[in-house]
Amino acid sequence: MLSSLKAPATETRGRKNSGGVEFHAVSKTFPDGTRALHDISIHCPAGEATVFVGPSGCGKTTALRMINKMILPTGGSVTVNGTDVASMATTELRRQIGYVIQNAGLFPHKRVIDNVALIPRLLGEAKSPARERAAELLKLVGLPAELGRKYPHQLSGGQQQRVGVARALAADPPILLMDEPFSAVDPIVRRDLQYHLKSLQAELKKTIIMVTHDLDEAVFLADQVVVFRPGGIAQVDTPDRILTTPADSYVEGFTKGNAGIKWLSLLPTAGLTLEAASSEPGSSTQVSANWILQNDANGRPQSWIPAGSAASNAAGPIPVRSPFVHGTDMLNAALNSAVLSPSGKAIATDPQGHTRGVVDSREIHLAVMTAKGRIDE
Ligand SMILES: Nc1ncnc2c1ncn2[C@@H]1O[C@H](COP(=O)(O)OP(=O)(O)OP(=O)(O)O)[C@@H](O)[C@H]1O
Ligand SMILES: [Mg+2]
Repeated sequence: MLSSLKAPATETRGRKNSGGVEFHAVSKTFPDGTRALHDISIHCPAGEATVFVGPSGCGKTTALRMINKMILPTGGSVTVNGTDVASMATTELRRQIGYVIQNAGLFPHKRVIDNVALIPRLLGEAKSPARERAAELLKLVGLPAELGRKYPHQLSGGQQQRVGVARALAADPPILLMDEPFSAVDPIVRRDLQYHLKSLQAELKKTIIMVTHDLDEAVFLADQVVVFRPGGIAQVDTPDRILTTPADSYVEGFTKGNAGIKWLSLLPTAGLTLEAASSEPGSSTQVSANWILQNDANGRPQSWIPAGSAASNAAGPIPVRSPFVHGTDMLNAALNSAVLSPSGKAIATDPQGHTRGVVDSREIHLAVMTAKGRIDE
């Protein structure tokens, strides 16, 4: 991996506020009289992801842009590493900050590789090392190096978005601002980008401040969620507490009544005990009295074959739907898999999709109750 991109973990965590961003009683009234924010205070800790959610027009982008001085507060102050941004030279400040926007915002007349290398070049780096590094960054965000030769319009929306992230990382800034970075891509690509960003963050430990309309995205990516209401803040808390202990009915309204289901997306599947199922290509395993799990020629789960009393009722094999990746996916995915399976058992695979085992829905229920510290049965 890129050693130059690795977070200086001990330094960052040891120093108070290093890379951290704070809003101190910040207000913003635009020249036309619009009061976008009134007296907000937020601490975005260094090395963590803080995600702003809230309805349209409630001031999320305004707050984000105050961090890199694209917008200046009319009251209060914003500090980076404990220093008021108002007292910092704009170029010096922005050197510490990567900025990713919706639709990536790439320069159309520049090749992908040069879009990524742009900021290091502006900072005086020579062309060849800047391009080499840009190629590494493309790899880091999951794009093939050949793509660097193309122009932005020759890429899909999801690929452009990845280039946008690579470009923001190019100067290796400790802080990454992201304003609805994935909102313009379809749900499947979006999920993929979210997974990628999450694993990238686990390694790079940037101070991320991100805006989204999507509570699922916020809960998945955030260490800390900030729920905005028009002009102010309704709650600042961990994803877990936003879901289980909303400050008021306004915050609760954001979960659309599905807080319990969303909460399952915070619980790992790594601790689930798997029941054995063969991973051999073409093999089958009887996992319950009535159901046999059949693998395809690559050792991936393919279909449920009815046995026992199910054999006389079911017309034939039932295709497998939605296995979960053991240790990577969260409990919501395991529960989904169990619900969709005729045997009531979720199918666990490795990251390549090969059968690892099955999990009974009762084991999933037990994991949920254990996580809640509530086992009454
Ligand atoms: N330059 C400006 N001049 C006047 N009013 C503005 C300006 N920029 C933003 N506003 C207003 O400030 C308020 C907050 O805008 P902001 O863009 O921060 O909202 P947001 O939460 O990011 O919304 P969205 O989710 O739609 O992106 C809105 O009422 C908006 O119309
Ligand atoms: Mg906005």
